[in-house]
Amino acid sequence: MTTSAQTPVSAVIVLAAGGGTRMKSKSSKLLHPVAGRAMLSYALDAAQALEPQKLVVVVGHLREQVEELLNENYPLVTIVEQPVRNGTGGAVKCAIPALGETTREVVVTYGDVPMLTGETLTELVAAHRESRNACTVLTAVVPDPTGYGRIVRDGGQVSRIVEHKDATQEERQIREINSGIYVFDGTVLRDGLANLTPDNQQGELYLTDVLGYAREHNGNVGAYITDDIWQTEGVNDRVQLARMNAEVNRRIVERWMLDGVTVVDPKTTWIEADVDLESDVTILPNTQLLGATSVATGAVIGPDTTLRDVEVGENAHVIRTHGELSVINMDARVGPFARLRPGTVLGVGGKIGTFVETKNAQIGDGSKVPHLCYCGDAFIGEGVNVGAGTIFANYDGSHKSPTHLGDHVFIGSNTVLVAPLNIGAGAFVAAGSAVVEDVPPGALAVARGREHLSTDWVHRKRAGSPASDAANESEGEIHPAVAEARAKLLEENQEDDQ
Ligand code: UD1
Ligand code: MG
Repeated sequence: MTTSAQTPVSAVIVLAAGGGTRMKSKSSKLLHPVAGRAMLSYALDAAQALEPQKLVVVVGHLREQVEELLNENYPLVTIVEQPVRNGTGGAVKCAIPALGETTREVVVTYGDVPMLTGETLTELVAAHRESRNACTVLTAVVPDPTGYGRIVRDGGQVSRIVEHKDATQEERQIREINSGIYVFDGTVLRDGLANLTPDNQQGELYLTDVLGYAREHNGNVGAYITDDIWQTEGVNDRVQLARMNAEVNRRIVERWMLDGVTVVDPKTTWIEADVDLESDVTILPNTQLLGATSVATGAVIGPDTTLRDVEVGENAHVIRTHGELSVINMDARVGPFARLRPGTVLGVGGKIGTFVETKNAQIGDGSKVPHLCYCGDAFIGEGVNVGAGTIFANYDGSHKSPTHLGDHVFIGSNTVLVAPLNIGAGAFVAAGSAVVEDVPPGALAVARGREHLSTDWVHRKRAGSPASDAANESEGEIHPAVAEARAKLLEENQEDDQ
């Protein structure tokens, strides 16, 4: 890069007024996401890389939606309205008053060309300065130029740009296309715009005619050809949007692989633009990492996992899981088949297992919720075990209430914890309990019916049935595994009593 390329340009004008009709959408085309970010934000980020003195966005169609994004994320942008969509030349004309009397370079780009990078714009400006051009256009040589404006050359110079609709058969053979991205000398741009006429097939003011004007007035008009034709691709319909997303994703995934992330199946892995990964993360097939998700070194994610705005700590494993706005700390295990809703925080070495749904749940270090559980509005201490089938009943039909489990609490299987509820540290709850009263530290709560036996019931009520036959044949023996476990427990209890 030459030093002159580092002098800031006077302005970048981003054209964003077009109708986007082929998207057939209620929302502005420019807000449709590419790798999780609004399409327009790519154009603005690329423009900002030039550090222009002024950044102007021309809005029109669905302008309220576009302005909302701009006001929220790009407060320094100057917004200009194009009241009537009368072509690219008309759009740039609307921006001219916002530029003042500048005679320095003005860059024009589109809001719907998301892969254009700041580096390419910088190179374009550098090429423009080196050749002392009045105007320089970014072009590409493409296999199928249908629909694009064609670059008509006269020796090395660009003599003019002809739109597909206005071109002769011969001109349509030209495969060098106009990307719609340019650098203009400020004065040439102003004069050229003042001379535009809608004298063409579409009855529009063509910005491209400014190049012909510059050439006729003996200005140098050059082209900077990019090899990366994706950088010139616009998005007009949802087929192109999907293609663009696939290509952007392919590049993001490739970049992470080169940075030391193992991606077992790049084709089924989707990583959005704002995701952050460390080296030695492993991503298994069919995984989507979205939003502001971050994953620390040694963690393994997937297969079949979707994480949005989730922070995953070192060496954690997250298998077949759907998670949102949650934190999974180091060495923790999640899944398979887990659902983490917003506000879930799993402690170091903790576990959220199979068919478990959590919401606003803080689960302490080393605590485990391994199977079949709804765990909502829960504050769980360290070293807690929540048995299979436990339900945190946090909703009484009108209010949500919290449940607190102190450190080293043990909840037996198939328990209902009716919130608001406090279970003190070290307390135990027997399996099958419906707990409605607080349990003090160290207590055992048994909140279930006693077992009642009706002997010979099957012989009386189901005589002759397979069940009755089986009962007759049985000698009432205890299965050896059960007998053994029971003997062991008895022995331990006796030892404790001594
Ligand atoms: C334009 C170029 C064409 C080039 C192509 C690249 C002209 C005359 N033609 O054609 O040479 O190959 O882009 O994609 O410039 N816009 C406005 N206001 C308007 C019209 C358009 O803001 O009144 C904006 C659109 O939102 C879009 C951009 O300008 O971002 C291009 O408009 P579009 O209608 O797609 O131009 P093309 O006919 O494709
Ligand atoms: Mg277009």
